Amino acid sequence: MAGGIKRGALIGCGFFSLNHLHGWQDVRGAQIVAVCDLDSHKAEAVGRDFGVEAVFTDAETMLAQTNLDFVDVATTPPSHRALVERVCSHGLAVICQKPIADTYEDAKAMVDAARSAGVPFLIHENFRWQMGFVRIKAELDAGRIGTPRFARLSFRHGFDVYATQPYLATIERFVLMDLGIHLYDVARHLMGEVDHLACETASLRPGVAGEDSFTSLLRHTSGAVSLVDCSFASTIHPEPFPATLAWIEGDKGTLELTTDLCLRIHTADGKVAESVDPPVPAWGERPWHTIQDSVIRFQSHVVDVLNGTADPQPSGRDNLNTLALTLASYDAMQERRMIDMAQWQEQQ
Ligand SMILES: NC(=O)c1ccc[n+]([C@@H]2O[C@H](COP(=O)([O-])OP(=O)(O)OC[C@H]3O[C@@H](n4cnc5c(N)ncnc54)[C@H](O)[C@@H]3O)[C@@H](O)[C@H]2O)c1
Repeated sequence: MAGGIKRGALIGCGFFSLNHLHGWQDVRGAQIVAVCDLDSHKAEAVGRDFGVEAVFTDAETMLAQTNLDFVDVATTPPSHRALVERVCSHGLAVICQKPIADTYEDAKAMVDAARSAGVPFLIHENFRWQMGFVRIKAELDAGRIGTPRFARLSFRHGFDVYATQPYLATIERFVLMDLGIHLYDVARHLMGEVDHLACETASLRPGVAGEDSFTSLLRHTSGAVSLVDCSFASTIHPEPFPATLAWIEGDKGTLELTTDLCLRIHTADGKVAESVDPPVPAWGERPWHTIQDSVIRFQSHVVDVLNGTADPQPSGRDNLNTLALTLASYDAMQERRMIDMAQWQEQQ
């Protein structure tokens, strides 16, 4: 697989796939040569708009008939396991959109399939690839604020996400699975593994089937504590969507990521501020550009993984622990108790 342009296929030509397709066009070292969607109109439209000639409505037919290095799965979770297992059976590297799966059992099976096939398996967890979080991780690794002891990650807005993703209003497990999983990945990435957690959820907006807000308290194995909160039913002016607010305290200082995309570093030497507002891609637009830029960053990383120069960030295996936090949050809410994560994972 080393060297040369990597040949990729995209499965799932829906709402978010357009970011994938544009992103792949911006990334050096990889090219999408085939697309597939159960809906022929969507597959054909994407093929036409992105100049991809090989268009399929059946993933197996595409995998059997196309010379590929990797497959990018951008469908919704119910199809993830079957598609990832199929791709692995062809010995190809696979990327799967978050959430990896609806159940821990399915996610484990996907990780096992990739391990057995000996292929790289990445989860498209682009939040940790947002410029603000890339900078925060670098500062934490450099010891700028010492040992991290407390974090708050907060994603609150009132943006109409249902206009472009109508299925979000119908799913029973909503905001924790859709957005919480991103925040939990970032919390683990920055603050380490979680020992136990508590969670409260609420359903605020009429007509939305699942929970549309949650507040979680995480105790990390390091002893640090994180507060992770999210609401899709907040009235805030100006509308901060899709920005995440972060506040991380260490024993030597504090890192602050504001919703206007500024990173402030507070230490004994005073406060310094820098912009973490990324460039708007030629195909992108504000305020989506932070997400769009993170897709490009993630995909560039995928090329490094395919070339054997980087380890997956995150891998499917790593993402099992993130999914565990998300699923355990529902148990914490329903059973009104703290969940011990080691115990929870043993029971699965
Ligand atoms: N990382 C992010 O920032 C981000 C943002 C939005 C959505 N997402 C994720 O992206 C995924 C897709 O979301 P979306 O809003 O684009 O969904 P969507 O419903 O618009 O698109 C999914 C597409 O997959 C196709 N599909 C389903 N099963 C298939 C199969 N077996 N073979 C071929 N095609 C199949 C459907 O026909 C549909 O066109 C979800 O998992 C969602 O959580 C991620």
